[in-house]
Amino acid sequence: MSGVSIKFESSEIVPLFPTLVWRLRVDPETARTMNEAVVSKADALMGHLRDDSPAKFMQSHQKLHQDPDMQVLASVVQAAADEVLSFLALGRHPIEITGLWVNIGRPGAIHKPHRHPNNFFSGTYYARLPEGAAGIQFMEPRSQMGLVMPQPERLNKHNSGKITLPVRDGDLMLWMSWFEHAVPPNPSSEDRYSASFNLMFSDFTERHTAPIIQRVVDSL
Ligand SMILES: [Fe+2]
Repeated sequence: MSGVSIKFESSEIVPLFPTLVWRLRVDPETARTMNEAVVSKADALMGHLRDDSPAKFMQSHQKLHQDPDMQVLASVVQAAADEVLSFLALGRHPIEITGLWVNIGRPGAIHKPHRHPNNFFSGTYYARLPEGAAGIQFMEPRSQMGLVMPQPERLNKHNSGKITLPVRDGDLMLWMSWFEHAVPPNPSSEDRYSASFNLMFSDFTERHTAPIIQRVVDSL
């Protein structure tokens, strides 16, 4: 068939099982309140460790959703999770925050690839991002994709093993807890402040652990 020129009448891409990340933003006034709460809580809990922390990436204890100073952020995280659950048609299943903590990324800090086991949703709220330090990386979740992958002519989200997503102050990013992610280096001379969280179904053992049949969608 060489020499025959084929022209397709149409070409369609059907994404199946896409991996989603949600970005939610609240009004600037509420965001300001949360930004201040995150920065002052992080400084209060970890500021004294700033100069002798060899890790450069510092995390607080994980029960800040019970801290009175963090209730606005906790409410926003809960509302975000509820909204995303509704999108997934899972809105009738109550979900709750199981952990919420603040992070300080010192100049040069990275946070290596990891996942958040034993939870359904995880995410991060960005309170203060220095210049050049505004990104989160996600790793290709289909490990088989790396087995046969010639070098592409140009990288895009369909042929990369790692994607850096830009974020800005006030962004609340939410994803499934199994999705591996990392924080790229903070190249600035200032600290990066954020808060991270996990959520899980409130009645997981009571309602969701019985064997189920495969969930099948017959048409798109
Ligand atoms: Fe994380």
